[in-house]
Order: sequence, then C-alpha cells, then structure tokens
Amino acid sequence: MTKLWGGRFQKSAEQWVDEFGASIGFDHQLVMEDLTGSIAHVRMLGDCGILPKADVVAILDGLEQLKEKAANDELVFEIANEDIHLNLEKMLIELIGPVGGKLHTGRSRNDQVATDMHLFLKNRVKEIINSIKTFQKALVTQAEQHVETIAPGYTHLQRAQPISFAHHLMAYFWMLERDQQRLSESLKRIDISPLGAGALAGTTFPIDRKKAANYLGFEQVYANSMDAVSDRDFIVEFLGNASLVMMHLSRFAEEIILWSSQEFQFIELDDAFATGSSIMPQKKNPDMAELIRGKTGRVYGNLFSLLTTLKGLPLTYNKDMQEDKEGMFDTVQTLLGSLKIFEGMVRTMTIHTDRLNEAVHQDFSNATELADYLATKGMPFREAHDVTGKLVFLCIQRGIYLLDLSIGDLKAASDLIDEDVYDVLSPFAAVKRRNSLGGTGFDQVRLQLEKAKALL
Ligand code: ARG
Repeated sequence: MTKLWGGRFQKSAEQWVDEFGASIGFDHQLVMEDLTGSIAHVRMLGDCGILPKADVVAILDGLEQLKEKAANDELVFEIANEDIHLNLEKMLIELIGPVGGKLHTGRSRNDQVATDMHLFLKNRVKEIINSIKTFQKALVTQAEQHVETIAPGYTHLQRAQPISFAHHLMAYFWMLERDQQRLSESLKRIDISPLGAGALAGTTFPIDRKKAANYLGFEQVYANSMDAVSDRDFIVEFLGNASLVMMHLSRFAEEIILWSSQEFQFIELDDAFATGSSIMPQKKNPDMAELIRGKTGRVYGNLFSLLTTLKGLPLTYNKDMQEDKEGMFDTVQTLLGSLKIFEGMVRTMTIHTDRLNEAVHQDFSNATELADYLATKGMPFREAHDVTGKLVFLCIQRGIYLLDLSIGDLKAASDLIDEDVYDVLSPFAAVKRRNSLGGTGFDQVRLQLEKAKALL
C-alpha cells in the first residue's frame, strides 16, 4: 500500500508499526468535520484563483459524495492510511482521479486536524450546554413542587438547620448555571480558525484565511500560524470545564445515593433508573448515580492526561498531540450521557415528603431557633447558645426533642422564654422565617425560582 507521503521512503513500515501510529481507530469520529473543512478550503482555493473552477467543481463533487457515504456509514477506513485526513484524501483521489490530489494545496494536516477539532468541539459544547439547560429545567420543575417541603439541612453530614427541599435542589441549579456559563464563555476560544496556518509557517499560495473561516462559520482566525497549529488550550479548557460539571454531578449523585438508602428514605428512584441484585431479591440499587460518580474519575483523568501530554512540547506540531483526541471524545460522550441520565433520574424520582417531615421533627435542627429567640429577647447570643446547648443535653438525657419540653423546663433554663417559643421551634416556621436574601425562607425560594426561570 503506497502512502500519500511515501515519495522519500525506500521501504514501507511494517503493519504493527502502522498500527501503533494510526489514529483512524478513533479520529474517524471527525469524518464530517474533516469533509466540511475540506469543502471550505477548496472553495477558498477557487475563490482566490489558486485552483481552476473545473477542478474545484470536481473536488467539491467528490467531497459531497464522500459526505453522503459517511452519513450512510458506507466508508471503510484503513489503518494503512493512518488517520482520517489521509483516508479521506485517498478516497477522494480514488473517486475522482488525480485532480483529488489538488485538495491539499496550501494546507497541511497540522492546520487541518486543528480545524477539525475546533469544529467538533464547537458543536459538541453547544450540545452540552443544551443538555445542561434541559437538566436545569427538570430541577426547577421538581423544586417548584417542593418549596414548602421541609427537609433537614446538613453540615458535616450532621443535622444542622431545617431547609426547604426546593432550596436544596436549586443549589444544584446554580452550580449548573455557572457550568453552562463557563462553557458558553469558552466558545469564543473554540470558535477560531487555524485553517491556512499550513504546517507551521503559513503558505506561499495567495490564500484567504478569513474567507475559509467564514465558510466554516468561525468568528475569528488565529493571528499566529505557529500558535494556530500548536494550540490545544481550548481542549484543556473544555476538559477543565467538563471536570467541574462532573464534580457537581458527582456530589449530587452522592446525595441521591444517600437519600435513597434505607437509612434516609428521602426519595425513591423510578424503577427505570435503578437496578436489582442478582442474589438479593429485595435490592433496588442507585447504579446510575453511582456510575456518574464513578465516571467523574475518568473525566478528571482526561484533563490530567492532556495537560501532561502538552507539558514540555516544543513548538509546533508534535505527534504527541495525536493523544489529544480520545480523552476529548470520551469526555464529550461521558458528559452528554451523564447529563441525560441525571435529568431523567431527577424528573422521575419520588420525593417522600412525609419522611422528610418526620426527619425534621426528630432532631435538634431547630436549636438555632431557640438561641436566636433568646438573642432577640436581649440575651447575648453566646449565652443564648449555651442555654440552648444545655437544654439540648437535657433532652438527649430524657430521649426527647426541644418541642417536647414543658414550659416549666424551658423557663427554668431562662425566664425570657414564653409560650410563643413553641411556634418559633416548629421546623416549618423556622424555614419560613429565614427570609434573608438567598435564604431558605419560602418567599426567597420563590424569588429564586423566578430568577431561574427567567434565565431558562
Ligand atoms: N493524526 C494526526 C493527529 O491527530 C494528524 C496530524 C498529523 N500531522 C503530522 N505532521 N504528522 O495529530
């Protein structure tokens, strides 16, 4: 099999060497981007009078045929042709004859592959942003139904203060909002064309880079041809942004796993998003949430892998950079899959409001209310904290909760306490009164939901 670059070689590489060097096993995923890039390039070559019209027409026709075959999954790639670029070029020449060999005029695989990656990521990042938004909608829909569902709020995974369950869900909405913003902001660094940078130094042909960029819908062109073919920052940035999304999903997954355990029973996952055990008939496992938590590791790994690959590379293109692809493909797929699963899981889960309510009545998460109550009546907060702490201890000794204490017991701790304390200690009232901006009070949560819906 003769190589497209075989001229200066006296013998061909052995198959196992070809196999080691080939990227076609994974970069075939760039087939559409590569053809789109070639179409723009050849149109530009025609516009600039670098190729005669008839050649341009023939090449465009061949490229369109290849596009159609690619769409129908009819292309058969070969390892001997190394990568997607050489495979397609070879196919073009086979299809339309030697004129196909004019496509690569004024271009190198170095600017070609970079162009493909920019095109690929631009579309996938937009897709990911849309998936995030769909997930955010599911969160808002669930949250709207649970503004007045009271749940225990935690710090240190210890009961802390009661909260609105909607408030808890909406915390994830805002994390995802930042993720979505970060990805959107990164688009301006993805939406930039390396095409026409050549191998590293530009070209002697009178090309028009802006025209080609325009055909591809790129906002900008790289200002420096060496930077254009060396830059993989936009992929690192994507992997970093993806890592943050996964970290958020993983934290949420952990809560889903806890909440659906026998110990919590705050939620039940829909059967469609859970699995059973091959030996224990009673089991309903939150596998999907666990898997998302698990997959977070591979996305972080992809980020570190690329950072490490790039570290110490001299300008400009080095074959090491072929290693930029698998991690990127894998991350796109992992992210889209995880977001889709999570959306379905949250949309269909059952929230056990009775269990949540029971939980907040069986803890001391209203202790801050009592301390605040005493402070409002003039007692220094530090002292109020101490008095309340002693009452909590008394309750623990008796196996009761603050609301079970008699007015006599309460007054013995402080004569500032009156009957109205019982209203203050109710978890519902405790949540309702936390009406500071961004707090868990119902009015604040409703305000937050309005803001969120306006964003969507
Ligand atoms: N398959 C290569 C890659 O993905 C394409 C660029 C090859 N360029 C070169 N000068 N060998 O990086």
